[in-house]
Amino acid sequence: MTKEKTAAIVLAAGLGTRMQSRLPKVLHPLAGRPMVGHLMETLAGLDLERIVVVVGNGMEAVAEAVAPHPTVVQKERLGTGHAVRTACEAMDGFDGTVLVLYADTPLISAETLTRMLEARRRAPAPAVVVLGFRPSDPGPYGRLIIGEDGTLQAIVEAGDATPGRAAIALCNAGVMAIDSGLLPGLLARVGTDNARGEYYLTDIVAMARGDGLACALVEGDEAELIGVNSRADLARAEAVVQQRLRAAAMAGGATLADPETVYFSHDTRLGRDVTVGPHVVFGPGVAVGDDVDIRAFCHIEGARIAAGARIGPFARLRPGADIAAEAHIGNFVEIKNTTVETGAKINHLAYVGDSRVGARANVGAGTITCNYDGFAKHHTDIGAGAFIGSNTALVAPVKVGDGAIIGAGSVITRDVAADSLALSRADQEERKGRAKRLRGRKTAAKAASAKGGG
Ligand code: UD1
Ligand code: CA
Repeated sequence: MTKEKTAAIVLAAGLGTRMQSRLPKVLHPLAGRPMVGHLMETLAGLDLERIVVVVGNGMEAVAEAVAPHPTVVQKERLGTGHAVRTACEAMDGFDGTVLVLYADTPLISAETLTRMLEARRRAPAPAVVVLGFRPSDPGPYGRLIIGEDGTLQAIVEAGDATPGRAAIALCNAGVMAIDSGLLPGLLARVGTDNARGEYYLTDIVAMARGDGLACALVEGDEAELIGVNSRADLARAEAVVQQRLRAAAMAGGATLADPETVYFSHDTRLGRDVTVGPHVVFGPGVAVGDDVDIRAFCHIEGARIAAGARIGPFARLRPGADIAAEAHIGNFVEIKNTTVETGAKINHLAYVGDSRVGARANVGAGTITCNYDGFAKHHTDIGAGAFIGSNTALVAPVKVGDGAIIGAGSVITRDVAADSLALSRADQEERKGRAKRLRGRKTAAKAASAKGGG
């Protein structure tokens, strides 16, 4: 038997009015990636012959986000039925099952979609397979009408539902698997006689049933079927994505001391035996090697951390931080665009930017690389084994040679040769007994003024 072919139409032309945003709804990120990107990745895992995305006018950014998949523009937003009809031209010559998905339902799993495709193939080969779910709050979702024979009869939109129907718990998740041969004919008959005056895709179920065709129902889980219409929905979807990422991190061999407080990016990569303390946030582009210890309250983005390094607590690694094996980055240390080589230590209260810190160098508390002069950024180079005393300002561009020592409190403006000792602080003066005399004089004066006045 030849396997039936599958194609997908993704609807993304909606304005997302309830988001109150300038950004098209489907570009709002979940774990740092546009929601439509999550859906596209899931679809990439299925064996689809083609994927067409319906976008609105001026939604070039959405087209870019889904490239190389083709887009069709729905010039007027006349409803989901109209959007699918717009996409049909791009389905020309395709024969099989058309999956229709909504880009604002981005968390659906490949496993659920596979179950729908299986239901499409099972006798009596239903014309339409609908994905249903039982949300804790059915609110705006379409309600699924099940007939006395237990089969799906129709979908009624929330705005059109009588109070009796609004009480139905079983809702439309929005995903359908449809016979491509029947789709254009069904869509052609969809009208706009409803509360929103839109062409509802959901009307095709009642139409198919009216034609004597079978429709099937597959049920899914609410967590993967949240439809994102508002910022509150977005936050709920983010929570689901974070739960998945936490579970994946732990399954991959990381210890999360308090998983609920760790936030990942969709692309965070963790090695084995990594330990992550409470309240750690990973932004995009972080790769962590084996046996790394990330302590509480760190913020890390665009950084690479090699095996055995120790980060935090309270460290901030910004883009371009490249931390080599066994290096230590301690509390209240900010690192940006800097390579910290093997075993180097920057343990307390420092800003190190646009720099290289050589292997086993020790950067003292309060060290600042003055990388920006108000006009341009400059590089600081710290050699292997160098020791930078506490509260040193390294005014870039500047180079400290291998094994050099910088005295605490120095302002270093010129290069320091390897193995040199550099000091640039003011000399200390000391006057013997002067503190005692000063204290005596001041105490006497205070006593005299207290007696005289009041
Ligand atoms: C839709 C379903 C509802 C279901 C819910 C699941 C319809 C009529 N209703 O309602 O039964 O329970 O999803 O989340 O289908 N879009 C276009 N062009 C348009 C209109 C919409 O591309 O003209 C896109 C939107 O970008 C969105 C998707 O279609 O990604 C769904 O549209 P939306 O308006 O959010 O439908 P819901 O009211 O949520
Ligand atoms: Ca929606």
